[in-house]
Amino acid sequence: MKNLLYLSGLLIFTSGNRNVGNNWSFHVPKEVTGEVGKSTTLSCLFSHPQKTHSGPLTAIWRIDHPYNGTVVFKCMSNNSNDLCKPTINRMNKFQLIGNPHSNNLSISIGNLTWDDGNKYYCRVELSSDRHDKYETRTGTQLHLAAPPRIINITIGFDQFRGYHAICIAEGEPAPSLHWTDPLNTNQEIRLTRPLMKHQTAMELHYLTQDGKYTCGATNSHGRVEASVYLFKFKSGNGNDIGPGLLLAGLAFKLLMLLVLLCSAAWYRNGERAQESTYENYEPKGH
Ligand SMILES: *[C@@H]1O[C@H](CO)[C@@H](O)[C@H](O)[C@H]1NC(C)=O
Ligand SMILES: *[C@@H]1O[C@H](CO)[C@@H](O)[C@H](O)[C@H]1NC(C)=O
Ligand SMILES: *[C@@H]1O[C@H](CO)[C@@H](O)[C@H](O)[C@H]1NC(C)=O
Ligand SMILES: *[C@@H]1O[C@H](CO)[C@@H](O)[C@H](O)[C@H]1NC(C)=O
Ligand SMILES: *[C@@H]1O[C@H](CO)[C@@H](O)[C@H](O)[C@H]1NC(C)=O
Ligand SMILES: *[C@@H]1O[C@H](CO)[C@@H](O)[C@H](O)[C@H]1NC(C)=O
Repeated sequence: MKNLLYLSGLLIFTSGNRNVGNNWSFHVPKEVTGEVGKSTTLSCLFSHPQKTHSGPLTAIWRIDHPYNGTVVFKCMSNNSNDLCKPTINRMNKFQLIGNPHSNNLSISIGNLTWDDGNKYYCRVELSSDRHDKYETRTGTQLHLAAPPRIINITIGFDQFRGYHAICIAEGEPAPSLHWTDPLNTNQEIRLTRPLMKHQTAMELHYLTQDGKYTCGATNSHGRVEASVYLFKFKSGNGNDIGPGLLLAGLAFKLLMLLVLLCSAAWYRNGERAQESTYENYEPKGH
């Protein structure tokens, strides 16, 4: 399932940054796809009129726009024996992996989050002279992909939906969800509005059977499933614990613990799960 994710090498190359009477040029991929939670590499190669350059050098990466976009990474090196020392490194997640003195400004970006989907532009400055500074105008679009992850699976009761099961999952492309109930009978399924970008939710209404309810989430990068158990209707002596439902089963408790841990991380990060780990509760991946 991961083989789809690193298309980066295939969709290359545009340069088009060649001015008349000037030998500057950049080679950058048009787009790169990375996986949320992992790292990716943005490649940037340049050539310049001075064949070799062993003096001071500044490497810069920015986002949004060429020339005036926000700088996310900047490093300076005094000479070719020096490491390029970062002076700007947003979220501390960038690393220059190319050798800038060999015309290679490639960087890696770690811990990819949805927020990293952007256009990236590399730039090099060999001196403060304006003829010694150059930047790619085309940039590299970073796309994010994510295998499906179930972020909440729960059973509730209300007068409108009866006993109902809710499954919320995220992924890119947004996963499609499917409930399997204990008897595989058809029940009303309604897609609820997605809570956030990259998320989908699916509800199963009017549950009438005890047992295991399994939610499967699928997108082009894989499939996961998670289950909840309903013990309500055949409760032996007919007495429920409380008016609500009795949910039991070790699997479910484990699940809820994970859900809680996940959602704690989720809410800490405000609107988005920025540090998704893609652990799933009952992964039965394909
Ligand atoms: C670099 O530019 C000069 C003129 O500006 C030209 O004469 C030369 O052929 C160019 N070299 C290459 C490798 O494009
Ligand atoms: C940067 O330049 C572009 C085009 O030149 C312009 O549309 C954009 O508003 C500028 N952005 C900032 C932050 O100045
Ligand atoms: C580069 O040189 C300057 C001044 O000579 C010095 O202050 C700085 O520490 C040097 N940087 C590195 C990375 O060696
Ligand atoms: C640029 O640097 C990256 C990272 O070290 C490396 O994988 C790549 O082969 C280099 N490209 C060239 C043309 O040297
Ligand atoms: C990625 O995130 C993990 C967990 O939040 C953290 O421990 C790690 O240092 C981060 N790595 C990078 C390269 O940011
Ligand atoms: C899961 O979703 C239900 C219904 O929307 C909500 O009440 C519950 O708090 C959520 N649980 C977690 C752990 O996020």
